[in-house]
Amino acid sequence: MAFDLLIENIKGLVQVRESTPSYLSGSSMAELPILDNAYVAVKDGLIVDYGSQQNSPRNASQLIDAKGKFVLPSFVDSHTHLVFAASREEEFVLKIKGASYEEIAASGGGILNSAKKLQSISEDELFERSLHRAYEIIKSGTGVVEIKSGYGLTVKDEIKMLRVAKRIEMATGLKVRTTFLGAHAVPTDTTKENYIRLIIDKMIPAIAEEKLADYIDVFCENGFFSIKETIQICEAGKRVGMKPRIHANQLNRSGGVQAGVEVGALSVDHLENIGEEEIELLKNSKVMPTILPGAAFFLGLPFPPAQKMIQEGLPVAIASDYNPGSSPSGNMPFMFSLACIKMKLTPEEAFNAATINTASCLELLNEYGSITKGKVANLIITKEVPSFAYLPYKFGSDWIDAIILKGKKY
Ligand code: NIG
Ligand code: FE
Repeated sequence: MAFDLLIENIKGLVQVRESTPSYLSGSSMAELPILDNAYVAVKDGLIVDYGSQQNSPRNASQLIDAKGKFVLPSFVDSHTHLVFAASREEEFVLKIKGASYEEIAASGGGILNSAKKLQSISEDELFERSLHRAYEIIKSGTGVVEIKSGYGLTVKDEIKMLRVAKRIEMATGLKVRTTFLGAHAVPTDTTKENYIRLIIDKMIPAIAEEKLADYIDVFCENGFFSIKETIQICEAGKRVGMKPRIHANQLNRSGGVQAGVEVGALSVDHLENIGEEEIELLKNSKVMPTILPGAAFFLGLPFPPAQKMIQEGLPVAIASDYNPGSSPSGNMPFMFSLACIKMKLTPEEAFNAATINTASCLELLNEYGSITKGKVANLIITKEVPSFAYLPYKFGSDWIDAIILKGKKY
């Protein structure tokens, strides 16, 4: 067979698996298969062959010599709010001066501030402003991204956000999963009860009609949505095929994990404030515990007990939470470093958490998340580096040499 692309002399081909388990948990998170001195071949946008360099087919339209470099599957970022209108560095300065995230939110800043800005611009303008962030994350190694709504907070603006998320997929080649997060905050001109009715009676049906959302999410938090409201909204989403994922236990132990387990969520995300009880509940569920180290870092929150969760046999996933309020970075290499530095995950555990486990909870592991024949050729080629562990160690430095997206050099 003549291949479209052959990457040769690879120092280490990372995350090579003949087939993938449905997710990795406990001690299996420490196992990261790396094939030394290898090649990988691509045709029609897919990984079609790999092996030891000595068996390289040497038969391709395009050849890349990766001597001294690692090749990795692209990161799968399972939690972002990448579509937004404007940055919020004024709140960042207020936080530096001592204001808390909750105080800023309660005074009309935060999510409501983002909503006001987003409501005032057109879909095309929102697309333009979001597109450059999509290019930014592609360059930092993301190949699959989940994007949430939640800064619209009206029927038309939530739809606008999700349409923009879909357009990003068309325009960039990124694989995009979309999540409806109407229950992100309550607008000031209505009551919570009326807003929940609007979500259930108007937003969910309109979004389902246009097939704009794969999933439904709720910000389950004191001052936002309670356990009961979270369950009510998720059940309404489930009725039209939107599986739940929950913003859980970020600022308080407010029951998000309990709600997520109850509704059979694909993931519960954040988890800065969890204890034994939540860990026990997760052990008896299929819910993916997802950690967003960028948000804990930026807000100065405690990091979740990820290492303990893994020791107790749980899976852990890592995503960026890219958003203007609590994690203004979608840089997955930095999240990878934070997981190792701040939560003591090994480089192998952290990489598995940001590829296999995030792909698993986005129901995309059949096509992404590892170097496996038949999967989409979304790859990262590193610069010349001494070892795999060097990548998270060298935090904040750009160790990416080239990106392959759908089999093409980006
Ligand atoms: O995941 N916590 C809720 N939502 C976002 C932040 C939203 C914002 O501040 O704009 C998060 O951290
Ligand atoms: Fe979030």
